[in-house]
Amino acid sequence: MSAAEASERTGTRPVLVLNGPNLGRLGSREPEVYGSTTMADLTEQCVATGRTLGLDVEVRQTDDESELVHWVHEAADGRIPVVLNPAAFTHYSYALRDALAMRTAPLVEVHISNPAARETFRHTSVVAGVADGTVAGFGLTSYRLALEAIAELARAGETGAGQAGSGG
Ligand code: DQA
Repeated sequence: MSAAEASERTGTRPVLVLNGPNLGRLGSREPEVYGSTTMADLTEQCVATGRTLGLDVEVRQTDDESELVHWVHEAADGRIPVVLNPAAFTHYSYALRDALAMRTAPLVEVHISNPAARETFRHTSVVAGVADGTVAGFGLTSYRLALEAIAELARAGETGAGQAGSGG
């Protein structure tokens, strides 16, 4: 069953939380940078946050660029909002950026660390330009804030109130 079909059953809004390479190693990967929380903990927290926001959150992680691109296509086809931590793909994957440019629903880029305060190669995001916004530097809280932004953007879309940041 697709994420969209599953949510249709429950009457909640589907959201995909997609994670790129090496994030499956959370907990043991550079804990001084990424903390000690595992991907399983992150998944639990995102699903629980989603429940409080009326979102049916599905969390996925892959080390494979092609798989991530296919998930982005799935989201575009199903008009499913996405919270995306592209991990290292953030900095160089034009294939991922091009896939995201086809999006049909809100997209929030998320990072556990603050790439702007780290090595120079992390200062570039090829994804940021096609996202509604970016949340970075707050550990797992980045995901909660991103889900809140998605809920807000989805609500604004429903009421025709426009998207955050589009006003002036
Ligand atoms: C990251 C930051 C990226 O620079 C890095 O390659 C990651 C994780 C983050 O969540 O802080 O893998 O996206």
